[in-house]
Amino acid sequence: MNLSAPANSRTPDTLNSHDLNEASDPMTDSVSSDVAPSASAEVAIDPNAPVDLPNRIDVSDLHIYYGAFKAVEGVSMTINPQSITALIGPSGCGKSTFLRSLNRMHEVISGAYVEGKVEINGQNLYGPGIDPVAVRRKIGMVFQRPNPFPTMSIADNVLAGKKLNSKRIPKRDAEDLVEKSLRGANLWNEVKDRLDKPGSSLSGGQQQRLCIARAIAVSPDVLLMDEPCSALDPISTLAIEELMLDLKSDYNIVIVTHNMQQAARVSDRTGFFNIEGTGKPGKLIEMDATEKIFSNPAEQATVDYVTGRFG
Ligand SMILES: Nc1ncnc2c1ncn2[C@@H]1O[C@H](COP(=O)(O)OP(=O)(O)OP(=O)(O)O)[C@@H](O)[C@H]1O
Ligand SMILES: [Mg+2]
Repeated sequence: MNLSAPANSRTPDTLNSHDLNEASDPMTDSVSSDVAPSASAEVAIDPNAPVDLPNRIDVSDLHIYYGAFKAVEGVSMTINPQSITALIGPSGCGKSTFLRSLNRMHEVISGAYVEGKVEINGQNLYGPGIDPVAVRRKIGMVFQRPNPFPTMSIADNVLAGKKLNSKRIPKRDAEDLVEKSLRGANLWNEVKDRLDKPGSSLSGGQQQRLCIARAIAVSPDVLLMDEPCSALDPISTLAIEELMLDLKSDYNIVIVTHNMQQAARVSDRTGFFNIEGTGKPGKLIEMDATEKIFSNPAEQATVDYVTGRFG
């Protein structure tokens, strides 16, 4: 993955990937069986062992700031590829902030910065010479509120990110990409006869799948999803969850959710964030196989949160 800043990394298009990501927020696996077997065949696979496959994310001692305010403190975690990682925790504990720091969206806010490392394939996303635009292309994001460009057609919405990155796409290639992405987002059958209609003509659940189609059209390696179902009805939620399970063999997916059942249903590993009080930074309390977090977590704060006694 080349994340270096090219000599001229901007295109003359009216959109940029910031707009694309932001228009929004007005906006362990079953650890892969490829893990080297341990000495004893009897020993269960450690869900916390880093999986040695492309697109693993290693976060080391990450501190995230909004100016003088430290919102997140000292997070270290490994996010395994080909799996879904859920991030849970009470409001204000820094889940969205942390998620945005994984693709350098955090720093688009004036005065916002991070200390620490986020590595993917051994490359520090915050290292010198790394192009944030290239990072955002490789690490796509889907937001809480579906944010298609309302006046753009369904097809153009899918192509929006792609057009930003390449000057011209031959018509045939564009049509193929639209179909492939919409099929990938499990929306093709519902929209194939009205691709020229505006994105805003779709239902909320369809719009969210359109945003997922737009995100996957640029062939990212990682998909970050910030409460992607919170504005959706249960049927659309289920459709998105099924889609995530379909996509996980190709992507490293990280989802923030307040829905415990959702985290339990879809994720392989879960990280619990917490905050001691207003004005204090959020911290990662523990991260483990989802089953363990929901049945037998190590920390009392996690027990209280997942059993609904808190937050
Ligand atoms: N743009 C910003 N400028 C300054 N502080 C911010 C900004 N965005 C978030 N914060 C602060 O950072 C902290 C973490 O916020 P964040 O949105 O990451 O929490 P969250 O865990 O995603 O909460 P929720 O579950 O409500 O979405 C909060 O104290 C919040 O007020
Ligand atoms: Mg949030």
